[in-house]
Amino acid sequence: MKIKKAIFPVGGLGTRFLPATKSMPKEMLPIVDKPLIQYAVEEAAEAGIEQFIFVTSRGKSAIENHFDHSFELENNLLMQGKKNFLKITQEMLKIPGTYAYVRQQEPAGLGHAIWCARHLIDNEPFAVILADDLITGNLTLKNMIHNYQGGNMVAIMEVNKNETSSYGIVKTKEITSKNFEITHMVEKPNPENAPSNLAIVGRYILDSKIFKILEKQNAGKGKEIQLTDAINSQIGTTFCHGFLFEGERYDCGSKLGFIQANITFALERNDLKNELSTWLKKI
Ligand code: UTP
Repeated sequence: MKIKKAIFPVGGLGTRFLPATKSMPKEMLPIVDKPLIQYAVEEAAEAGIEQFIFVTSRGKSAIENHFDHSFELENNLLMQGKKNFLKITQEMLKIPGTYAYVRQQEPAGLGHAIWCARHLIDNEPFAVILADDLITGNLTLKNMIHNYQGGNMVAIMEVNKNETSSYGIVKTKEITSKNFEITHMVEKPNPENAPSNLAIVGRYILDSKIFKILEKQNAGKGKEIQLTDAINSQIGTTFCHGFLFEGERYDCGSKLGFIQANITFALERNDLKNELSTWLKKI
């Protein structure tokens, strides 16, 4: 099934990363030399996405500027003969009109952020990528689309039982070793109430009927309108597919995850790995 549109909710406050995120979007934090949001867009493009919809908020204009021409910079690089940097700057720019930005006027939760993009989605399934959930390999969404057969689909992974209160947790029936039917999901349960140790991470394919649910969804955990609650309320009428993805996931909205991602990605770079590993061993 062809999925052409992806929503990137980037309206959150990023409080876990203050003060860095006071005047800079969390999604612009770099992993080595590329901002998180660019990894997300590249993963979506690799999956065949053609329309990139960002749900932004106050103070997030750096994201819009990142995906636009910077004539002064490009002209400078051209004049100085820095062709490589010019290429890096230009090759990420998509055809005009393929990026769209909508504003979330208040940080009322992930479910609310998705709902803010409702006018840009027709009667069609669409993808959602949370840029702060960085997954190695760049292929998670592509693999999900390959396995998608309608309904809602979420990427899942195993977590330690004592970490369930940081995630949406699912109850499942196994279909194959990687594919599960989700029969229930709950946002951030305490370990004693968690239905499993399978957690939702930031990749979704959603049926557009979700907008009707989100419209009426009451605030849940953390007094935010939770996407997990909306998807859960569709279970029974809309098939919900859990996809156990391959690759390592880094929670780059947390300081530890961000540092781990930077080290891992840098160690994979030919221009950095030798010096970095020597230095890491030394310290
Ligand atoms: P997080 O749970 O990481 O929240 O949101 P946050 O506000 O970004 O960060 P902390 O927890 O305060 O440190 C998960 C994703 O949902 C988006 C965020 O931008 C992030 O990509 N989001 C969250 C919104 O777009 N709007 C919201 O109201 C909440």
